[in-house]
Amino acid sequence: MARKFFVGGNWKCNGTTEEVKKIVSTLNGGDVPSPDVVEVVVSPPFVFLPLVKTTLRPDFHVAAQNCWVKNGGAYTGEVSAEMLVNLDIPWVILGHSERRSLLKESNDFVGDKVAYALAKGLKVIACVGETLEQREAGSTMEVVAAQTKAIAERVTDWTNVVLAYEPVWAIGTGKVATPAQAQEVHSELRDWLQANTSPEIASTTRIIYGGSVSGGNCKELAAKPDVDGFLVGGASLKPEFIDIIKSAE
Ligand code: G3H
Repeated sequence: MARKFFVGGNWKCNGTTEEVKKIVSTLNGGDVPSPDVVEVVVSPPFVFLPLVKTTLRPDFHVAAQNCWVKNGGAYTGEVSAEMLVNLDIPWVILGHSERRSLLKESNDFVGDKVAYALAKGLKVIACVGETLEQREAGSTMEVVAAQTKAIAERVTDWTNVVLAYEPVWAIGTGKVATPAQAQEVHSELRDWLQANTSPEIASTTRIIYGGSVSGGNCKELAAKPDVDGFLVGGASLKPEFIDIIKSAE
């Protein structure tokens, strides 16, 4: 079954109101393939979500970069899934490696967040990926399987999940995974889904790649059969994000 190409732009903790308006204006003027061919989702910081949502072209969608693990209450600094739903924000990124490492989010905690967000009606970009040390120790698949397992144990319907493979050593470093390296892990992740969820979930779940994706390297990566799109950091703040979206065709 054909999987629609997916391009996410994770703006991380960047931007001023003026810069955000400029990025949106560039996106709105971009000539990109139709939504039948590519699904585009951009993820500004929480405070800019309403501005981006109301000014962004209607064929692109927005995502939050995180949400709390359960309903709101006395959780200072957190934003709940319910709040995102209330603001009509359709997507959320969960389990990004920056949150796993800097904020010590465990596999189980990320799994709980994914399950809760899905239960509230959000669509989830769930991130997995190994560190350089783990890759060099030969444990890449063990690490990403454990991260995926924590989600699979809590989620039965994967319709609204996009799995983002983001090797930590490739994030923000300019050291992009080779197309062969990305394909190898994506294919193994699909095999893992086949063995541990269902053949249907394995064949329909989009597995996207993130880590130093650019206008220059996206086409080769996109040509790989199990690379169903990208989660782009730095380059999503620049006009080359349009070129990355175009790699869908
Ligand atoms: O979520 C996006 C990834 O962390 C990739 O970031 O494209 O700046 O390497 P990057």
